[in-house]
Amino acid sequence: MTAGNPARTIEKSLSETFGETAHVDAARYDAMYAASLADPEAFWRDQGQRVEWIKPFTKVKNTSFAPGAIDVKWYEDGTLNVAANCIDRHLATRADQTAIIWEPDDPEEAAQHITYAELHRRTCRMANILEDLGVRKGDRVVIYLPMIPEAAYAMLACARIGAIHSIVFAGFSPDALSARINGCDAKVIITADHAPRGGRKTPLKANADAALLHCKDSVKCLVVKRTGDQTSWVDGRDFDYNEMALEADDYSKPAEMDAEDPLFILYTSGSTGQPKGVVHSTGGYLVYAALTHEVTFDYHDGDIFWCTADVGWVTGHSYIVYGPLANGATTVMFEGVPTWPDAGRFWAVCEKHKVNQFYTAPTAIRALMGQGEEWVNRYDLSDLKLLGTVGEPINPEAWNWYNDHVGKGRCPIVDTWWQTETGGHMMTPLPGAHDLKPGSAMKPFFGVKPVVLDPHTGQEIDGNGVEGVLCIADSWPGQMRTIWGDHDRFEKTYFADYKGYYFAGDGCRRDADGDYWITGRVDDVINVSGHRMGTAEVESALVAHPQVAEAAVVGYPHDIKGQGIYCYVTLMNGVEPTEALYKELRAWVRTEIGPIASPDLIQWAPGLPKTRSGKIMRRILRKIAENDYGSLGDTSTLADPSVVEDLIENRMNKG
Ligand code: WTA
Repeated sequence: MTAGNPARTIEKSLSETFGETAHVDAARYDAMYAASLADPEAFWRDQGQRVEWIKPFTKVKNTSFAPGAIDVKWYEDGTLNVAANCIDRHLATRADQTAIIWEPDDPEEAAQHITYAELHRRTCRMANILEDLGVRKGDRVVIYLPMIPEAAYAMLACARIGAIHSIVFAGFSPDALSARINGCDAKVIITADHAPRGGRKTPLKANADAALLHCKDSVKCLVVKRTGDQTSWVDGRDFDYNEMALEADDYSKPAEMDAEDPLFILYTSGSTGQPKGVVHSTGGYLVYAALTHEVTFDYHDGDIFWCTADVGWVTGHSYIVYGPLANGATTVMFEGVPTWPDAGRFWAVCEKHKVNQFYTAPTAIRALMGQGEEWVNRYDLSDLKLLGTVGEPINPEAWNWYNDHVGKGRCPIVDTWWQTETGGHMMTPLPGAHDLKPGSAMKPFFGVKPVVLDPHTGQEIDGNGVEGVLCIADSWPGQMRTIWGDHDRFEKTYFADYKGYYFAGDGCRRDADGDYWITGRVDDVINVSGHRMGTAEVESALVAHPQVAEAAVVGYPHDIKGQGIYCYVTLMNGVEPTEALYKELRAWVRTEIGPIASPDLIQWAPGLPKTRSGKIMRRILRKIAENDYGSLGDTSTLADPSVVEDLIENRMNKG
């Protein structure tokens, strides 16, 4: 399931198909890319003009990756407001244009078309409500909502008054939620009664109630009505959004923000410890989200753009809300899932809303591929012009299926490699400029200088046909600025292993043509259905169970999810492994973290392979989970080699 497989190159070059309309053709890409590296100041000064500044910037780039002095500042003396950029400045020409098409979970329920004028009113009202609740510039607001328009209003309302939002995916548990509320010391959490998804309902308000038991008493809870179901209510703490919105004023003045003021915090998994709060900026982030949205997707005025992600992930931030709205686009927001009520839902929505650009994750494509192409063929997909993928390497089978059945061989596929930390696309083929190779992220985006390093020496590996760890040699405007409350950890995580570079945590190959292939994470982060999961998080959830003595978690290849979660669990002395305990541990992890962290396989391990100094040898555990125990490598440092034989004998992944 890696992108390293030999792949057929699509015969026809995109420039032949799209040369006429594409924003960037091959020659233009080469020239612009070269210029962006030769003179970043000039390139990004120009690009900075795509947003509207209250006070124009005079400084463009002030960045350093030097050890001990990591600092990233872009457009630092400019001021602006992100909500004004995403809404107000479009009103003169687009007041009646649809900004957001909202498609509910249940296809029987009516879709909504929210115009830019309506988006303005709704966002202003939400901004005024937040101010009524005491939220001020610089305060943090946690958003824990379904995929409903109010999620976008809430994000933009925070941006409008200069509050910093931190969205928590609605699939996370109360424990994960309280950790994030406390982590950023939020003043308010915005939630809804329930989140409908795939015909089922998640009790968001009840989860928030449970989370708030572990938070400061002063945290207020703003509740949006989604399903109308009864929920419990704490007077003085809970506030009814729908009631307050009736009274709220239709105008709120956009706050003047510094380019470097934080726009949002988004927690993401790392290889060690608790999730880290990735901090993104106001100016640089917006420029980068807007530019990548326009260029990568070849977005043209009037196009209908659909990114199927959830706003709980960075993809939803950059390519449902900020990038598209900054460009005055029409963006689709979908509450449901690809397989409910049936496996044709994505394509039904594409047909219904005449979607032009469609952006999804390989895991969704694999799941739908398994249901057969008849689901795709039922719908008219002739409005589609371009397809995209994100989140994990796409295997050539899935790529070809997507290309043949969804794109009918006429839509370029942009395989976009990027991360929560990067704010926007870092590598992708550009439609009209590049050939496509199934599974390859192809070329760096403007201003991005990827390098392949030798993992042992840390030296750059020049030339083509090489493989190593992927680093970026210089800053770009969408780069994260710090980890909330822990700048040290920011330096240690991204700049300590390879001095002078941003270390992405991924491995990569540069093929004979100089095109890039992401080979997957090289750290203890696994990618489950396109969602990042730190194995350390699952381990600490498991060992929190009273009957678990020790746990080690690794990824293994999974047909649909890309990677599955494989857990080795050592029970407390005297505890018998039973089917009931197996189920209980799976449920336990779901409760501790959320359904996305649910273990796929649990192996009872009487002991774990350790070095004599007591370090768990994960390399060996990974091999066993991958069913590749024939090549365990050097096991001479094991304290007790018999442990490994037992694990191999009782491995769960026998196929
Ligand atoms: C992986 C999602 C291969 C990668 C935007 C990265 C990919 C992690 C691709 C970031 C791709 C993302 N090809 N791998 N096109 N896109 N990844 O922070 O391992 O949720 O480091 O951001 O996903 O995941 P995150």
